[in-house]
Amino acid sequence: MSVRVTNASFAKQLKKEHAYIHEIIKKIEKRVAMIGPQRPALEWGSSLLENLSSLREHLEKHFEFEEMGGFMEEVMKALPNVSPQVESLRRDHQILAFEINDLYKRAETLILDNGPTSREMGEDIKHFLHSLGEHERKENELILHVFLDDVGMID
Ligand SMILES: [Fe+2]
Ligand SMILES: [Fe+2]
Repeated sequence: MSVRVTNASFAKQLKKEHAYIHEIIKKIEKRVAMIGPQRPALEWGSSLLENLSSLREHLEKHFEFEEMGGFMEEVMKALPNVSPQVESLRRDHQILAFEINDLYKRAETLILDNGPTSREMGEDIKHFLHSLGEHERKENELILHVFLDDVGMID
């Protein structure tokens, strides 16, 4: 039963976290959609930086929560055959953490003459958000899978 309780509270917290991350993602997508042919306005660049910084900061905590909160261990204990998926999610975290950091650093140079164009930045951001979305989707699928196997129903 304890596994069930742990997973239930974890799943709830995870859902909240994913919803919050989704909010930040929506803000960033909105900014990217504003990209025009001209050089980005200073204000646009600094708002984008703010959003990326918030995403970077939150993802760092989020990944730590998923890895250290005991959930990954619980999942593997409950269903040892899913450990390759858990390992793959862990690797995703490392890559995603590196990429968001890189995006942030690149966005800092947007105002420089030799910095990236807003279009280039926009494409990189879209690519990153796609990978992040895929990762969260796989994670949600795994949670659902563990729930189904653990308690025989979704909630
Ligand atoms: Fe994750
Ligand atoms: Fe996640």
